[in-house]
Amino acid sequence: MSYNNLLLEDAAGVRSITINRPDQLNALNRATIDELDRALSEADADKSVRVLIITGSGAKAFVAGADIKEFMHFSVEEGRTLSADGQRKLFDHVERMSKPVIAAVNGFALGGGLELAMSCHFRVASATAKFGLPEVSLGVIPGYGGTQRLARLVGKGKAMEMIMMGNAAFDPAYEALQWGLVNHVVPPDQLLSTCMELASKIARNSPAALAAAIRAVNAGYEPGADGMQREIEEFGKCFGTADFKEGTGAFLEKRAANFTGQ
Ligand code: COA
Repeated sequence: MSYNNLLLEDAAGVRSITINRPDQLNALNRATIDELDRALSEADADKSVRVLIITGSGAKAFVAGADIKEFMHFSVEEGRTLSADGQRKLFDHVERMSKPVIAAVNGFALGGGLELAMSCHFRVASATAKFGLPEVSLGVIPGYGGTQRLARLVGKGKAMEMIMMGNAAFDPAYEALQWGLVNHVVPPDQLLSTCMELASKIARNSPAALAAAIRAVNAGYEPGADGMQREIEEFGKCFGTADFKEGTGAFLEKRAANFTGQ
């Protein structure tokens, strides 16, 4: 499949998706959101892809937010649809992927950019990255899950502060690390190699178990879902997989497991 706003690269079971609108600081317009939706579905269906990395093109920005030029004249109804469609197609889609998704945050992660990074299963940042939710400076609020996912990751007080500050202060990477918003901060030239190293270690594990783990962790954050009960169900189902037989067999035979994801 071809993409106008994305670059895709595969290496050793890891698919890197680069959002490629550097002259607009990789702002998420609707075309890019649609392409990401397609690229995620394609990666989910492709058995050769075990882990995904999402990053932005250029040295300056991961993603500088939703495309302001595109939505500035929207009506109330169009605004509502923008938020609902975006959440469904991209942000919830990333979070519910059956394969691990790592955000490689290479620069500004603002508004929808921070929301995209937060939808990923975890985040690694370049030391030059900056984080913020500037929406209230524009007269709007985060609409791609930011009010919910930020509070879950960093706690309500810090989330309130970041949202209320708008564009008055962007958090540097080391502060984001301290708050638990990112897992690692590395020099800019080591960002992709660090993510690749993490991704290739994860890619050696059972795809079936990784998918089950993602579903179980996510269940704890779904309204009305019982995370502990989901863990019991997912744990039990693992015992019926070929991956479980392979993983335990390989351990006893003192060899590396060769998982198929079945
Ligand atoms: N939507 C649309 N275009 C955007 C954008 C966004 N979210 N963020 C940056 N751009 C565009 C700029 O309009 C500019 O385009 P132009 O060359 O056609 O004028 C280009 O990207 C470069 O950005 P610029 O603002 O000139 O770079 P800068 O170094 O002066 O500032 C930022 C960088 C990130 C601080 C600034 O671009 C910014 O504040 N962006 C908006 C962030 C935001 O509010 N995001 C939330 C949206 S809900």
